[in-house]
Amino acid sequence: YTNKLAIAIDGPAAAGKSTVAKWVAKDLEYVYIDTGAMYRSLTYACLQNQIELTNEQEVLSLLKSINITLTEDQNVYIDQQNVTEAIRTSQVTQSVSAVASIPEVRQEMVKQQKILAAKRGVVMDGRDIGTHVIPDAEVKIFLNASVVERAKRRHQENMDKGFSSDLEQIKKDIERRDQIDSEREVSPLRKADDAIEIDTTSKTIQDVANEILSIVQKYKESEA
Ligand code: CDP
Ligand code: CDP
Repeated sequence: YTNKLAIAIDGPAAAGKSTVAKWVAKDLEYVYIDTGAMYRSLTYACLQNQIELTNEQEVLSLLKSINITLTEDQNVYIDQQNVTEAIRTSQVTQSVSAVASIPEVRQEMVKQQKILAAKRGVVMDGRDIGTHVIPDAEVKIFLNASVVERAKRRHQENMDKGFSSDLEQIKKDIERRDQIDSEREVSPLRKADDAIEIDTTSKTIQDVANEILSIVQKYKESEA
């Protein structure tokens, strides 16, 4: 079986999506596409241009005036500016779910993401990939973990980078973001009916990546 697949990975904040998706993409020699980076980039641009996040028309016209580019080596650009680091700040993290709730913003992002996924050979992660962006993905995974575990992971990441970090605050921020993402009207965070759910709470990155790779292998064998 030589056809390339689309692999959709969804789940709440810090479930391990991007780390595991990169690993799987590398193993299969597929392209990894981080859709969260697209919503983060628009949010960063709004903050830079002092656009009120509740002003949907202004957010939308800003989106139409910029080019967000994801490179194969995981750099993110807004036009010519490298924003790879800038889109990860807590200010962006705290605002991104509001921007991602705007229906016309989602419509435009999903349109671009569908084009990226059309040629297959992709691992794409986000919140609505299996449900809306690639509803016909050959493999759909929903990653989850307890909120305490997810908060600990983000906390550890901050400590490793030498940043100050408050575990309780991270937990609150994650819960708030998950709630907005799950309750928004357009393409909320939800497990697709045909997605395989993996609870990563007590699993290593390698365990989870291997589990996904064996699901991919089984799919290929069933199609061979
Ligand atoms: O990695 P982390 O869990 O912090 O989040 P992310 O994947 O970078 O996504 C940041 C935010 O973008 C999410 O909290 C969602 O509000 C939004 N998002 C979305 O709505 N749909 C996607 N497909 C991806 C991200
Ligand atoms: O993309 P998402 O927000 O779902 O999560 P991530 O950024 O891939 O993972 C958050 C953190 O959890 C990273 O520091 C990973 O190294 C860590 N992680 C882990 O400790 N165990 C796993 N099974 C998966 C991720």
